[in-house]
Amino acid sequence: MIPPKPGAREARVSLWRYWRLFRTDILSAQPERLYRAKMAEFRTPFFRSFLVNDPDLVRHVLIEAPKDFPKSERVIRGLNILLGQSVFVTNGALWERQRRIIDPAFEGGRIRDRFGAMMAAAEAAADRVQPGRVDIEALASHATADVIFRTLFSIPIEDQVASKTYAAFRAFQRSQPVAILSALIPWWPVRHKRATREAAQELRSLIAKLVTAREAEIEAGTAPDDLATKIMTTPDPETGETFTRSEMVDQVAIFFLAGHETSASLLGWALWCLAAAPETGRLVAEEAEAFMRAPSFAGLSQMPAARNVLRETLRLYPPVPMMVREAAVAQEFRGREVKRGAQIVISPWHLGRHENAWDAPDAFLPERWDAKPAREAYLPFSAGPRVCPGAGFAMAEGAVLLAALMARFQFEVAETPVPVAHLTTRARDGIFLNAAHR
Ligand code: HEM
Repeated sequence: MIPPKPGAREARVSLWRYWRLFRTDILSAQPERLYRAKMAEFRTPFFRSFLVNDPDLVRHVLIEAPKDFPKSERVIRGLNILLGQSVFVTNGALWERQRRIIDPAFEGGRIRDRFGAMMAAAEAAADRVQPGRVDIEALASHATADVIFRTLFSIPIEDQVASKTYAAFRAFQRSQPVAILSALIPWWPVRHKRATREAAQELRSLIAKLVTAREAEIEAGTAPDDLATKIMTTPDPETGETFTRSEMVDQVAIFFLAGHETSASLLGWALWCLAAAPETGRLVAEEAEAFMRAPSFAGLSQMPAARNVLRETLRLYPPVPMMVREAAVAQEFRGREVKRGAQIVISPWHLGRHENAWDAPDAFLPERWDAKPAREAYLPFSAGPRVCPGAGFAMAEGAVLLAALMARFQFEVAETPVPVAHLTTRARDGIFLNAAHR
């Protein structure tokens, strides 16, 4: 099965045209040659940018010299309104402190402890599916937000504050363009639309409510043992200090943003790929039915077909299609001068479909993962010190959601979706499948 890839274009585009495409449909703005090139340079009047596909250079940027390539200020400027000083946007000593406190919450054992909460969200998602035409992106988005509320704060999405938070989050996403021009031009002040500002403010005040209530529960010794309690009570091993309230609000905001939209993108595309490859769909459904008879964390390792499907979906539709870093010191890449301030783009989207790295790069072949292919062009969770702390959590969550849905329903393709890059990899007009009870 060859799943859809947006029509790539060969012609050079003007900056203005590129900018418009970038805002509406970044993936079809990509020239075909970028799926073959080791590197490409883009010149704009304001800065140079380098798309890096060479595995040695990718390793250099992310793993060997990450301090020379901090998060790009341009991208951070656009997200600050919601994320404040969250771990996703900080650099240097502040970022290191935040990771020291956050990482223990996502260790293997903690994920096992959250299995029950994931399972409850997955069963609730399957209960909501009505046979017939299903808006899969909406289903996936609701389900993964439910997982975040249940694992972080031990509340289902139906809870009053949770449902308001989810509504504010959706309003923020609808109002926030893919990229903000003022965030890309150095001297242009960052301006957000009023709707974006209001949604971000509403969202942050709802998160503050959840954090304040949890502080009181921790104080009273009645707090549930979930991710929020773990993160709020973990002291920095170097200073002994825990997060302040406002630091915690910043972190919760990123858990919603980084943890729910990405997982929703993965689930949506995985279900579509399975509907379009019915043989694989049957295999996963058999595994899922066996798993759902006695669900357990250990049982997740008994679903190799589902795991392969998740890996292959992450290769073809990486939820984070591109990552941007900034050269903090002058460099030379493949004989070309990279000045300080240049933007370095690492693209899981291009790497996952690169002609030098994969056989049949555009084909959906989950069984390729049985042969343990080289992973140097596989970066859906990034790599190095800034690797996604939620990777293990997301793989467990993806398998649980896939199992609950595939055990009960058979999905058929209703329309062929066109992938586009919003904050995550989404479908231009949504993903629609026809569902029938098994
Ligand atoms: C399929 C699901 C997911 C994918 C594909 C994914 C992918 C990524 C990627 C590529 C990055 C690096 C971004 C960059 O450096 O520019 C990242 C960072 C991050 N992710 Fe995930 N993620 C997923 C799920 C989650 C979940 C479930 C959580 C937490 C609940 C999470 C929390 C984070 C955080 C906090 C960061 C920032 C880390 C840092 O900068 O040090 N992610 N994720």
